[in-house]
Amino acid sequence: MVRLEGEDLARQERDFKGYTEGMVRLTPGRWLFPAPFEKYADKYYKFELKPNDVVLLTYPKCGTTWLQEVVWTMRNNPDLDNPMANMPVNARVPFLEMDSLLTSKNLPPVTEDHPLMQGFKKMCPGRDPKDGVFLQISELAPSPRTIKSHLPLSLLPQNLLTTSKAVYMARNPKDAVLSFYHHCRIFKNHGYEGSFEQFVQYFLDDDFIYGPYWLHLKEALGQRDNSNLHVMFFEDLKQNTLHELKRLNDFLGTKLTEDQLKGVAHYTSFPEMKARDGLLGNGGDIFFNLDIVKKDGGFFRKGTIGDWKGKYTPELDAKMDQWIKINLADLDIQFKY
Ligand code: A3P
Repeated sequence: MVRLEGEDLARQERDFKGYTEGMVRLTPGRWLFPAPFEKYADKYYKFELKPNDVVLLTYPKCGTTWLQEVVWTMRNNPDLDNPMANMPVNARVPFLEMDSLLTSKNLPPVTEDHPLMQGFKKMCPGRDPKDGVFLQISELAPSPRTIKSHLPLSLLPQNLLTTSKAVYMARNPKDAVLSFYHHCRIFKNHGYEGSFEQFVQYFLDDDFIYGPYWLHLKEALGQRDNSNLHVMFFEDLKQNTLHELKRLNDFLGTKLTEDQLKGVAHYTSFPEMKARDGLLGNGGDIFFNLDIVKKDGGFFRKGTIGDWKGKYTPELDAKMDQWIKINLADLDIQFKY
């Protein structure tokens, strides 16, 4: 793990006002993270998994929150009557490495009375938040746990797919990058202030946190035949929701009836989740740049396939096509755009 220095770091800090703590790059892989990742990397790698855990894996902006709500609901709320459903989704399905992302000086301090700290005290009595709020919420979440991570398989416990089940959801890179651009502008811990063109260039150059995306995909899809890994695509879940929920039902062993699955499909549809935005914990909060949210929309932006069309200049689109051609050539996936 090396610290980014010189012009490489200066560029990131100039465009991403939230990256105030430095950046680290890992080898092999060239994975890029805000430097606080260093403190936790080993803890993520050695995180103790249980046989009834389900770990949800995605590259950011590939429909993680949607998947969290779908899987948690199928596992814990098949009749849509569980009062716990009103808790923020990241409390029900904790985000393993979130602590690494929340130390930015661009965020106001999370005070004792913030709902996050109140939730932490309730879920992790006697624990010290300095040892990782989300890490410990992940550890102490009631079984059966459903845990979210954007980390690539190589940075997660190496017994993940022999101990627990995992679901990997992918999304076409053109929509994912557009969605990530919006995300990095509305979340103060990223605080992106550059242009969309520059943002795409970071992605193409593998100079992007959680990247390279192609390697993220490659590691997961390389395990496609592992019976403990279920691979799915944002576009399929959107276009053929019930079919995808049936496949998940088989994989998770949740045994929901067709009517229950239809109920879950409706409950987790884009308009329904957007309407519950505040409840899901993605509403107006200290983490958001509310001026941009007011102007360009909040977390639940479009939820569609193909919103990228018309947003990339022809030159930028050609660069993305070239990136796709080179990097995804041996992956045997046909993304829907
Ligand atoms: P857009 O920005 O394209 O709208 P993640 O949860 O991984 O950050 O992904 C966020 C993306 O998933 C956003 O995409 C968001 O709108 C979309 N999304 C969230 N819930 C969804 C749902 N129920 N159906 C479809 N898309 C959803």
